[in-house]
Amino acid sequence: MNSRPTILAGNWKMNLRRADASAFADQLRALGPKAAQGAPMVMLFPSAPFISSLSDQLRHTEVLVGAQDLHPESSGAHTGDVSAEQLKSAGATWALCGHSERRHDHNESCELVAAKVNAALASGLLPMVCVGETLEQREAEATESVLAEQVSAMLGACAGLSAEPAADGGLTWALAYEPVWAIGTGLTATPEIAQQAHGFLRQQIAATLGEGAARALPLLYGGSAKPSNCESLIAQADVDGLLIGGASLDSVSFLDMIRRCGS
Ligand code: 13P
Repeated sequence: MNSRPTILAGNWKMNLRRADASAFADQLRALGPKAAQGAPMVMLFPSAPFISSLSDQLRHTEVLVGAQDLHPESSGAHTGDVSAEQLKSAGATWALCGHSERRHDHNESCELVAAKVNAALASGLLPMVCVGETLEQREAEATESVLAEQVSAMLGACAGLSAEPAADGGLTWALAYEPVWAIGTGLTATPEIAQQAHGFLRQQIAATLGEGAARALPLLYGGSAKPSNCESLIAQADVDGLLIGGASLDSVSFLDMIRRCGS
């Protein structure tokens, strides 16, 4: 029996306007101040301009607000960028690091992703690190070597990453498996494919950080997760949560997934 929480995280990417975000938060507030026993932990990753207002709106709920990206430095002449400290002061508690859209659209290397993870940790933001293979890599049967490389590059450069629970029993970071071929394509990984990758990732973590650390680390799946497939994905032994893009943009489907994934 594992004690990892079930996490449902909505990554809104570059979508929604302020009024949409606010109406969405009102829907989530209806979940109540205290999540029912067995209810998933819920997180939202809005665009940076809405972190502050969403955090305020959701202050008395258990919904957490995170950032989709951050700059590795804490301040300075970096026009258009946002630092971990700024995000934290705006109310963010989590930050996505190394989402494949950042790796591909902005040429983010494993080194840069690791620097962002370190910056998040230094500021008290919890990193949710994203890894995943492309279709070409899967077809070339390179999935495991790609995942191993992404994980080892990160663990090798981020001494602060530990999967042991924090002193208060809370989480310290999370890992998201997002196969690039499944993102936004409707081609959801089968539960078996997701479990295979998650099992492999947990082994990699165990080999580096130890069995206890690997057991405590939440592993989320992302890639065309939706109400019709969320239960079969979450039923897998090593799938502890979902990082949801498209289906998180509509409060009805997101709330439906929250309900379906509660125990
Ligand atoms: P979709 O759910 O739209 O495939 O996006 C997944 C994702 O990239 C979440 O970070």
